[in-house]
Amino acid sequence: MSQFSVLFVCLGNICRSPTAEGVFQHKVNEAGLGDKIKVDSAGTSAFHEGETPDERSQQEAKKSGYDLSYIRSRKAEAKDFVDFDLVIAMDIENYHNLSLLKTSGYDDKLKLFIRDYAPQLKIEEVPDPYYGGAQGFTKVLQMIETASDSLLAEIKEILETDERVG
Ligand code: 4NP
Repeated sequence: MSQFSVLFVCLGNICRSPTAEGVFQHKVNEAGLGDKIKVDSAGTSAFHEGETPDERSQQEAKKSGYDLSYIRSRKAEAKDFVDFDLVIAMDIENYHNLSLLKTSGYDDKLKLFIRDYAPQLKIEEVPDPYYGGAQGFTKVLQMIETASDSLLAEIKEILETDERVG
């Protein structure tokens, strides 16, 4: 496998999943793997189709040096399970929605971000910050940073093993 691809998914694709996309893309670039790992995000709804990320998410990300301004909301499609190696849901509701969206045979690609990559946080989901206060956005960013580090470590391992095997 010469390239690996990851899709982050929440409900609106304006708060959590674009934050995950921007943070993870930043870490991928820092690791010099920009040409090896493709990163994208989507929502299970089309509520905010075509919009830039929520201003609160953009501001929170900016404080830590992440740019989300290039991202535009789009709806997740069944085809995403063909196009991406991993489809990572931010919460259980969206994990469930994705499991209904996908055709059979892609079970191994569907993940739940915190449960599968940051189990030490002892929670399963990235909580929806949309209707809450500023603190929610800070927490979301921290959780996403933690889970992104172990996701990147895991993908690096896959790419390296692949290179060794040829
Ligand atoms: P997200 O947050 O799923 O993290 O992008 C939300 C954004 C919009 C809505 C709900 C959650 N909404 O109901 O419009």
